[in-house]
Amino acid sequence: MKLSKDLLNSLIDITSNSAIACYPYIGKNDKILADKAATDIMRNQLNKLSIKGEVVIGEGELDEAPMLYIGEKIGNGNGPLIDIAVDPVEGTNFVAKNLPGAMSVLAVSEKGNLFNAPETYMQKIATGNNIPKDTVDLDNTVEQNIQNYSVVTNKKNTDITVCILDRPRHKQIISELKRLNVNIKYISDGDVAGALLVSDKKFGVDIFMGTGGGPEGVISAAALQTLNCNFQGRFLFNSSKDINRAKQMGIKDLNKKYEINEIIKGESIFCATGITSGELINGIIKKNNKYITETIITHNKSILEVVKKEVSIT
Ligand code: FBP
Repeated sequence: MKLSKDLLNSLIDITSNSAIACYPYIGKNDKILADKAATDIMRNQLNKLSIKGEVVIGEGELDEAPMLYIGEKIGNGNGPLIDIAVDPVEGTNFVAKNLPGAMSVLAVSEKGNLFNAPETYMQKIATGNNIPKDTVDLDNTVEQNIQNYSVVTNKKNTDITVCILDRPRHKQIISELKRLNVNIKYISDGDVAGALLVSDKKFGVDIFMGTGGGPEGVISAAALQTLNCNFQGRFLFNSSKDINRAKQMGIKDLNKKYEINEIIKGESIFCATGITSGELINGIIKKNNKYITETIITHNKSILEVVKKEVSIT
């Protein structure tokens, strides 16, 4: 089975509409309301699709998320078996504070091909499609990774840029990067977009590294796989609840390092519509009686394609 062009077009409509649903909440300092508005629309529209879908990356577990929870069956039940990863608002703080980079995101694959990830943190490392797979590795030291990258690309450390979430937990990595005279691009949130910055030289990011959300890691991997980029992830379990949940999900080796082809297999579709303008895409523009949206997609092509849409305000 192939994921059809019709499905792709429907998914672009869905992320566009969930981003638009968030528009009234931009800068209103209420990330919960913004997330709810986007989630409601996304769920409603996913349920109209002719698919037998299941949410594998969602808004949380059933007991904490009434909508788009992990395991929720999605679609009208007539059509292909599809796994779905949703992040109706990636960067809820960005929407709440009207900061750049919020997106509404979906990724889908055929049943069984998208990793069923627990709601926990993940160590991540990613590089672009021109870099040999084994150049960087989660098991290497920061210094080893930078040295390997420098040898492979013939770049001096001062010409290498690493993107990382600005978090206290990254203190050691950041001090190593500083010692090695590597440029650091800090992001305050939104590590799906952060990881995707390795996909094209125009973004000026060589390596993405650090710990962020596990679900966001799986979604990033879905896009990076189509773009022929490199990604590794390792979940971090901090509580017995997380560990039990992971075991229930079938994860046997809690320290396992996942390669990109273990996280996402086969064909996939990734769609991300800008809510507020960021480096990857523009946010929603309201003009006359229309919203103009921009969506980046990956599907069967090794570039991030941008699709613009005009949606009438009803
Ligand atoms: P939300 O949109 O759910 O708020 O997530 C934003 C985000 O920055 C993710 O991109 C990232 O993976 C995660 O939060 C990092 O978590 P934390 O803020 O706990 O470091």
